[in-house]
Amino acid sequence: MQDFSFYNPTRIEFGPGKIAKIDKLVPKDAKVLILLGGESAKKNGTLDEVLAALGERDSQVFSGIEPNPSYETMMQAVAVVKQHKIDFLLAVGGGSVIDGTKFVAAAALYPDDAWQILVTGGKHIKQALPFGTVLTLPATGSEMNSGSVITNKSLQAKLPFGSSLLYPQFSILDPVKTYSLPQKQIANGVVDAFVHVMEQYLTYADDAPVQDRFAEGLLQTLIEIGPKALAEPENYQVRASLMWTATLALNGLIGAGVPQDWSTHMLGHELTAIHGLDHAQTLAIVLPEMLRQRKASKMTKLVQFAERVWHIEHGTDDEKAEAAIEKMRAFFESVGVATRLSDYQLGAEHIEPLIESLIKHNMVALGEHGDVTPDLCRSILQASL
Ligand code: NZQ
Ligand code: ZN
Repeated sequence: MQDFSFYNPTRIEFGPGKIAKIDKLVPKDAKVLILLGGESAKKNGTLDEVLAALGERDSQVFSGIEPNPSYETMMQAVAVVKQHKIDFLLAVGGGSVIDGTKFVAAAALYPDDAWQILVTGGKHIKQALPFGTVLTLPATGSEMNSGSVITNKSLQAKLPFGSSLLYPQFSILDPVKTYSLPQKQIANGVVDAFVHVMEQYLTYADDAPVQDRFAEGLLQTLIEIGPKALAEPENYQVRASLMWTATLALNGLIGAGVPQDWSTHMLGHELTAIHGLDHAQTLAIVLPEMLRQRKASKMTKLVQFAERVWHIEHGTDDEKAEAAIEKMRAFFESVGVATRLSDYQLGAEHIEPLIESLIKHNMVALGEHGDVTPDLCRSILQASL
């Protein structure tokens, strides 16, 4: 286990009707901007519940944050914040709305060109507006972490940034609010959460039994409840477990003190930036071959993944590793997330621009050993056709 600092100040209010707690959590004299995506929060009654909880507070709504939130849209929200001297932000939606809100919280007080926040990965953020979230889509863990991913549409760049100043003060997790989700988004959430765990678990053995067991428990839970969440859309207990599992998959706990990979995510972001694929779809395409082509350095954890998560007991180490990778691919397909580039009408001709984009974004030494190069990414994509 490696040395680490763990800090997570986000208060979680979990359960039906907890949106009402906003009245206790947002200062009475706050000037609030509620940030929304498209129509879902209005249609499923979440916005009405939020407005009721805010009561007489001075509040207004900014809507239209698109999936894979854009710099261009978020800068419009920054203008609203500055014009109306907003001092508290409230994100109501999924990861895109929450990530966009994190960007606004930082950009509203950033002294330089706000795109530099992304170019520098957030390392020069010195202050940020306070914000809370009401989560309506279990997937990213953004409700309880300090990271965000923003797309500059004109540059076709989708980049991550983070800062310890960008933890939500609180997040309201009401599983009932997920009932209105389309199947595709539930499936995306299961896959995104699964890959978050894998980025922090499937690296190399580092004497971290508690993190390993915690990660394996999250993976097994997703395997068990993912299909149920699709089959029984209003099963509260299943949705509650899915919501909490997705949050725990990326709130810093399982990643504390262990090596982390994240190369699947960085390559996946390029697929979203250039071809508009959903975030989880890009992960389902990339991860199987990312693991296969890096089997040698990942073998110990691949065998552990095979034995403990998929209960594969027989065969050589290599056979166990191969079987586990294919079980994982079959799991993604079983919840309806396809795992080949060709499933998304992408072919060999689309690979080179993706590699060029990786290089342009300096994503050239990825992974827990810094050895995932553009050339390796090229062969991973070629094997994922
Ligand atoms: O726009 P609205 O109307 O809200 O509809 C959304 C959107 O179209 C809809 N939706 C959300 N809640 C709903 C609902 N529809 C019906 N009922 C509800 N209760 O779902 C669609 C997708 O929403 P989105 O927020 O884009 O999905 P998700 O939560 O998967 O977020 C994806 C974004 O998160 C980033 C991804 O890169 C992507 O931009 N990530 C953020 C991370 C983080 N901050 O830690 C880590 C992740 O790896 C990921 O990169
Ligand atoms: Zn993700």
